[in-house]
Amino acid sequence: MSFKTLDDIGDVTGKAVLVREDLNVPMADGRVTDDTRLRATVATLTELADKGAKVLVLAHFGRPKGQPSEEFSLKKLADPLAHVLGRPVSYIDWEGDKAAVAALAPGSIAVLENTRFFGGEEKNDPAVIERFASLGDFYVNDAFSAAHRAHASTEGLARVLPAFAGRAMEAELKALEKALGAPERPVAAVVGGAKVSTKLDVLKHLVSKVDHLIIGGGMANTFLAARGVDVGKSLCEHDLKATAEEILDNADKAGCTVHLPYDVVVSKEFAANPPSLRTCNVHEVAADEMILDVGPQAVEALGDVLKTCRTLVWNGPMGAFEMEPFDAATVALARTAAALSKEGSLISVAGGGDTVAALNHAGVAGDFSYISTAGGAFLEWMEGKELPGVAALG
Ligand code: 3PG
Repeated sequence: MSFKTLDDIGDVTGKAVLVREDLNVPMADGRVTDDTRLRATVATLTELADKGAKVLVLAHFGRPKGQPSEEFSLKKLADPLAHVLGRPVSYIDWEGDKAAVAALAPGSIAVLENTRFFGGEEKNDPAVIERFASLGDFYVNDAFSAAHRAHASTEGLARVLPAFAGRAMEAELKALEKALGAPERPVAAVVGGAKVSTKLDVLKHLVSKVDHLIIGGGMANTFLAARGVDVGKSLCEHDLKATAEEILDNADKAGCTVHLPYDVVVSKEFAANPPSLRTCNVHEVAADEMILDVGPQAVEALGDVLKTCRTLVWNGPMGAFEMEPFDAATVALARTAAALSKEGSLISVAGGGDTVAALNHAGVAGDFSYISTAGGAFLEWMEGKELPGVAALG
């Protein structure tokens, strides 16, 4: 799709630019525990400030459902953002916002209060869109990770102000286009995580898009069960076996090879390095054992599959990676993907929920071609859905 970027915005000197960012960062004891999303704002905010704009950051924090509160205030993020940007950031609340914006000097950056303090934000209410729009001359959407929401600040504003993609949004859309839009083939997708039920639409969509679908994590157990494997005490959605079979059939018809583990790491209890730990063929799982990771032989074979591919999309861990040694398959396969990306033979894009944590744990996040900061938006993109915040920029 085509969209305007900051290259098209023209002269912004002295103009107020509303920039939608995603400041929904994890915090503990008043501190930001992962500043990835703050760092993602730097390119756009500094570029606009350096061009002499009054930069007004619009963002949500948590789910306050239209109720202003200290807990969900964005005031506490002005300092961490200033720290990451290396320049001052002021805070403007919804009382007296007009006067505060008017008083801002060109080239300065301010964070407006949580957009979700207005109930109409999530309803894409024209009155709230108007309220936000009255503060700015231009609208820049830089928050791909909130683009699956059709809210006033993510979608509505693009319809009433001249609208542009910010640098992070632009990079994200270009990377995603390379991964699934017009990818270099063969394409592999790694989909892991606990449950099939949360990723049904992702799996259904991917079988028609990719050449190799590698299924790991707890959800692989449901597919194994659908193929008649006794998975013992493993996490398994037995009621979804028919759906899993249908996905496997569709993959067959589409010429997509589905890879399920043929050796697995099992244990009688879910604990770190348990005494009952062993590796076995999938057909040898005992009634009182749980599958907790993909086995080493399967991981090696999957690495060989990746070596034949040009593009990789990764979402979700291969095993119970938060507990040793059940992180082994995720770490090993991620390292293979990272090495192939580094040598230039693979374009690798990863994102969603636990994925970034898993790749960070493997120490390879920096070597992937692109890591998305999005959770739900990345999944919806993998489902083939049009994201309202992106569509509105077109
Ligand atoms: C996220 O954290 O994934 C985005 O900021 C969207 O947040 P939401 O799920 O509350 O809309």
